[in-house]
Amino acid sequence: MKHSITLKVNGTAHAVDVEPRALLVHVLRDTLNLTGTHVGCDTSQCGACTIHLNGRAAKSCTVLAVQADGAEITTIEGMSGEGGLGLHKLQAAFWEKHGLQCGFCTPGMIMTAADLLASNPSPTEAEIRHALEGNYCRYTGYQNIVEAVKTAAAS
Ligand code: FES
Repeated sequence: MKHSITLKVNGTAHAVDVEPRALLVHVLRDTLNLTGTHVGCDTSQCGACTIHLNGRAAKSCTVLAVQADGAEITTIEGMSGEGGLGLHKLQAAFWEKHGLQCGFCTPGMIMTAADLLASNPSPTEAEIRHALEGNYCRYTGYQNIVEAVKTAAAS
């Protein structure tokens, strides 16, 4: 039996019917077609699925969609618009510093970094690395990822 829930995603309200076992990440990707949120592991290890749930970074594979009923959610698709070329300053900094290798982890990295900068606008390198420890870059692009976050913080 499905449950009716409402989600406000990137400023738009959605009413969706979900199975009780449905994970939030799958509803975002498969029902709302917001495929910028990635699935790397489905077991809360990699951080590729990180979104903002009521203003805080959360791994959306660890949240049942029914638990998010009524929540405000931001995905990577909702992060544009604040920086140059319509990009969020973190997106612009990841581009400028080439803070990626294949890019699969990038949306999650940016969502986690944005949460960090919201609470700590001028983090130290150690604080950046600590904040990103739940986000894996399989191709070990961490050095440039950290540089990108530092650049965004300074902009
Ligand atoms: Fe959610 Fe890896 S897919 S942490």
